[in-house]
Amino acid sequence: MAQTLSTLAYLVASVLFIMALRGLSNPETSRQGNLFGMVGMGIAVVATLLKPGMGAGGIAIVLLGLAIGGTIGTVLAQRIQMTSLPQLVAAFHSLVGMAAVFVAAAAFYAPESFGIGVPGNIKGASLVEMSLGLAIGAITFSGSVIAFAKLDGRMSGAPIIFKGQHMLNAALGALLLVLVIAFVATGSPVLFWLIALLSFALGFLLIIPIGGADMPVVVSMLNSYSGWAAAGIGFTIGNLLLIVTGALVGASGAILSYIMCKGMNRSIINVLLGGFGSDSGAAAGPGAGNADRAPVKAGSPEDAAYIMKNAQKIIIVPGYGMAVAQAQQVVREMADLLKKEGAEISYAIHPVAGRMPGHMNVLLAEANVPYDEVHELEEINAEFAEADVAYVIGANDVTNPAAKTDKTSAIYGMPILDVERAKTVFFVKRGMSSGYAGVENELFFRPNTMMLFGDAKKVTQQIVQSLQK
Ligand code: TAP
Repeated sequence: MAQTLSTLAYLVASVLFIMALRGLSNPETSRQGNLFGMVGMGIAVVATLLKPGMGAGGIAIVLLGLAIGGTIGTVLAQRIQMTSLPQLVAAFHSLVGMAAVFVAAAAFYAPESFGIGVPGNIKGASLVEMSLGLAIGAITFSGSVIAFAKLDGRMSGAPIIFKGQHMLNAALGALLLVLVIAFVATGSPVLFWLIALLSFALGFLLIIPIGGADMPVVVSMLNSYSGWAAAGIGFTIGNLLLIVTGALVGASGAILSYIMCKGMNRSIINVLLGGFGSDSGAAAGPGAGNADRAPVKAGSPEDAAYIMKNAQKIIIVPGYGMAVAQAQQVVREMADLLKKEGAEISYAIHPVAGRMPGHMNVLLAEANVPYDEVHELEEINAEFAEADVAYVIGANDVTNPAAKTDKTSAIYGMPILDVERAKTVFFVKRGMSSGYAGVENELFFRPNTMMLFGDAKKVTQQIVQSLQK
């Protein structure tokens, strides 16, 4: 009876997780999606605690783990800045990877606790599951640690490339396969740890050549890996819910990576194998090569307010700088005033604007920007040609035409928002520095561009004040 109830609870939790993912696919239903996810996780935890055979000791250990992990998670979530979320996510992925390694080791050394055999005589199928969980977990761990270090600025974001890199990765991948087969055949502890070591090295080698603008896809790919690692653990410990949840995370992460690859015009195979983006040449440093350029035209917020007051169609292009400045609220105030002046306002969202998928959507939703004014790149790109103003606030790489013209650029091939086709382009940023990918943006020097130097929030506030006069 207890077993049936627990299976039923797991089934309900799985359905809630699927509904959570569905809800999260649209900004309007995302809060509801989060709620489904939380309820599902609550049911899963209670069902696990009430599982037959848990015993008081087992429950106490789980509650202790929940208390420690829950406290750390709550403190981190409260302290973290929105702009540092990608590195936090990468750090969390590394923990999932490490957990998979620990569970595989526990199952290997105490198989009787998992009902998969006795030490030295573990079921063949369990050895296969264990070695897959171990390998994917270890790759996820070291790969995520490198992604964290790059995103957090603790190591250079530039690609680390050396000759024969792809050959080395392919050879190590083949060796890993051989080790897994030998481990399944012999159950040898030496092979178990060799698989772990080799996988740690592979995770490291797969992520170091990835740099600059390509990191978002990697974070999403590591998210997918962490899901598959969790599913692997689920098989090892015979937990249906972990298999389902891990597979959901793995599959949704893979789909997100695919969508982002499409957004960046990259090949998913290259991401899976590591080292994509390494074909691109060195990124130009800030200000590089602008010696014989026209000087930039800088304007004041009052100039911008005057031009926008007389504009019919305005497209706002938010980027990472808007998140840093937390300018979303004042941007909406500006848009409301301009709408009163009779302007048509829309927002153009690039798939990798900001530092995490959906970053801009979350910020705009927080500021209660109507969803029907927010458009994805493909929907809105053609409209720049008819726009009077493109108000680019804290965005840089996602507007850089070098992605279309400069084959040596780190962002070459990435589709961009064609802001330069608007009659007037405002760039709100603090100085002339380049964006995340470290590539200079020649749009700053175009005759139809006006730079509005300053913090995104302050500049927009000043525009709001001018509009109110
Ligand atoms: P970026 O190209 O990174 O440009 C942001 C600009 O904001 C900078 O040039 C900076 O110029 C400006 N800025 C920073 N703080 C500001 C402030 N307080 N006020 C005003 N401006 C400020 O941003 P983007 O166009 O959104 O492109 C995103 C980049 O990040 C892409 O290269 C993408 O590949 C990468 N990336 C994306 C993700 C995801 S999933 N979205 C994850 C990791 C990396 P100043 O210093 O001159 O002010």
